[in-house]
Amino acid sequence: MGTGKAREGPVISAHARVVLFGEHAVVFGRPALAIAIEHAVVAKSVEYTTQGIEISVEPWGLQAEEGVAGPVGEALRRISAGVPGTGGVRLRAFARIPPGAGLGSSAALATLIAKVLAERRGVSLDESGLRRVVHQAEKVFHGNPSGLDGAASVRGGICLFKRLGADDEGLGHVDNLALKLPRLVVGFSGITKMTAALVERVRSQYETNHVTLERALDAIEGCLQTGLEAWRSWNLERLGEAMNENHRILQQLGVSCESLDRMVVLALEAGALGAKMTGAGGGGCVIALAPQRERSVIATWQKAGFFMFTMMLGHANAH
Ligand code: MEV
Repeated sequence: MGTGKAREGPVISAHARVVLFGEHAVVFGRPALAIAIEHAVVAKSVEYTTQGIEISVEPWGLQAEEGVAGPVGEALRRISAGVPGTGGVRLRAFARIPPGAGLGSSAALATLIAKVLAERRGVSLDESGLRRVVHQAEKVFHGNPSGLDGAASVRGGICLFKRLGADDEGLGHVDNLALKLPRLVVGFSGITKMTAALVERVRSQYETNHVTLERALDAIEGCLQTGLEAWRSWNLERLGEAMNENHRILQQLGVSCESLDRMVVLALEAGALGAKMTGAGGGGCVIALAPQRERSVIATWQKAGFFMFTMMLGHANAH
């Protein structure tokens, strides 16, 4: 249902993220450290309609409408219900990350849509309002999201995040850290993953053996503290070791997979100081800290067949 009015104005975008430390543990109230992939999804064109949300996302090939059967339709319905006012949008978006790759793409897209819709409806959503709406959409895909992805997609930057409780509506505490970012290489295993199933796997371990799981959560939190201290003092060897240790614990929790483990080993063989899976696991991406060796890491991954998507985060001269 078109009104024929195309939006003009500054480009609207939202951020994806990598998790440097603390994925899964964050669901249980432990801290996590995420680094935004700035402007990962961008609104290419917006047309104002009388009602409903229609989206298309390139190059994902995703097309969806509010209310159609299935999770995306339901997420759009929740975003529409969460943004006050009336009026619809037809949004064409562009994404510079793959979907389902453990990079927080669903939160990034939900944030983008909520921002576009709020502007269309003439309401200004503050950060909490936006995160609350995104959280409702995230619940469709993730079951019990910690709010980390929503916080990173709205805030950007380097986010030290802590959930306040299971019913905090996604409004966990966030500190934006003003740290220089070392270069990180991101590589996609080519396997898309199901976050909800992986989060549920860890939760059921908690039910059956919470003592062991608490110990693993303590160890992950220890990696974050050690890694953050090393980062602040620019001890990249130590930061890399903390990443390796965090990966080992995630392996023990059963949320890594053969491809991710292989990518970690390949990165270390190519000279990385540290490497780990990032996000929910079971597929998705690996991040590697490989000062001056970034290109070798990428070449090694590609030679081994992991060529679908790689990118670099951080500053070229941050060594
Ligand atoms: C992926 O989104 C990060 C997890 O910790 C889940 C969450 O924080 O909601 C695995």
